Amino acid sequence: MQPHFRFAGFMGKRVHLGVTGSIAAYKALDLVRAYQEADLMVSATLTESCTKFVQGLSFEALGASPVYTSMFDGGPKADTAFGHLEPGQIADVMVVAPASANTMAKLAFGMADDMLSCQALAFSGPKIVAPAMNPRMWENPATQRNWQMLGDLGFIRIEPECGNVACGDTGKGRLAPSEEIFTATLKAISPQDLRGKKVLITLGPTRESWDAVRFWSNPSSGTMGACMAMAAYLRGADVTVVAGPTALQFPTGIRVISVNTAVEMFDACQEIWPAMDIGCATAAVADYRPVPFGAEKFKKADSGSKGMTVEFKSNPDILKTLGRQKRIDQKLIGFAAETGKLKEEAERKLTTKDLDLIAANDISQEGSGFGVGTNQMYVLDKQGRAETWPQLPKTEVAWRLWDHLLLD
Ligand code: CTP
Repeated sequence: MQPHFRFAGFMGKRVHLGVTGSIAAYKALDLVRAYQEADLMVSATLTESCTKFVQGLSFEALGASPVYTSMFDGGPKADTAFGHLEPGQIADVMVVAPASANTMAKLAFGMADDMLSCQALAFSGPKIVAPAMNPRMWENPATQRNWQMLGDLGFIRIEPECGNVACGDTGKGRLAPSEEIFTATLKAISPQDLRGKKVLITLGPTRESWDAVRFWSNPSSGTMGACMAMAAYLRGADVTVVAGPTALQFPTGIRVISVNTAVEMFDACQEIWPAMDIGCATAAVADYRPVPFGAEKFKKADSGSKGMTVEFKSNPDILKTLGRQKRIDQKLIGFAAETGKLKEEAERKLTTKDLDLIAANDISQEGSGFGVGTNQMYVLDKQGRAETWPQLPKTEVAWRLWDHLLLD
């Protein structure tokens, strides 16, 4: 799981995981691990068919407790006589993944003939369903009707993916990636305090070509921006990311516009900024681009014995331009990567770029900056509130920055 999915801090929240009879049942074990990385407590119910593929012991060994495997024994560790009601009383979210066609039908029609379907019926919180089955079973009108009914009943539905399935067929029916199910789970239990807000986030490096094979860039991985995007998405925002070249993956609910150069990033932002409520610039934009040598590859012989000189031109300052265009109802967050004079530079950039909030870090400090999962921030807002935060995971920094922006 990439670092921007590693949101911890859901301490005290509990997820109840239902696992049904599918070859994809083993993937539910990945989910248990991911939930635990997020500090969630996990309990589970395996249907009888599930136990033909994966045993309860595997879930217990990974820390799920209790694990129910049948209707009447209450599961090996359950200490309640009312196991069919327990998730409804203590869990914050219920996730059925993978959900077989049979279990989907039971959930859609409100049947309650095994432990999982009973528990689902007695669960009034958010319920997520992520099916996995043979493509022909998925396409069957009965399954499609059940899928529709689950939507009408308020289930959060995560569609299966297309691809090769275990039986050798190709089509739609593969369980959605763990990251999708994990993200939907965190979203279901996050405060929705950014709901309805349209958020633009720039992230990653930009890449400025010089000849057919060489470019000018920087080592930004885009992780800080990805954490800002994920946190906003989890909290209900409608998120658009304008991303320079990175290896980052995003859940399908986040819109991604991929660009290469600073000018392309500038153009993409200009086009969407008027429709946005909040902008957040984390991208490490190249301030200058080389005047291109040409479309060909530069050959050593081209320079003769004189060496070579590369000329640079200024790139637009994306954030400063957004700041200049900012309406009264829009807010802007900036970042500053410095190697000294952190506070002075944060203050200068907050003012010159017309920001509401700036987060500055010293990239020369260990654990703060490019290529690491943590950051140590000095945070300053337009009202003059200044805070120095300890070194924190970038996910936590992102969460706190959104908290800070929502202060007033
Ligand atoms: N930024 C931007 N467009 C640029 C340069 C920077 O949008 N051409 C944004 C960054 O995404 C960041 C903020 O401006 O949010 C500050 O970037 P930084 O590189 O720290 O500062 P610069 O304005 O480039 O100034 P300097 O290089 O002199 O520190």
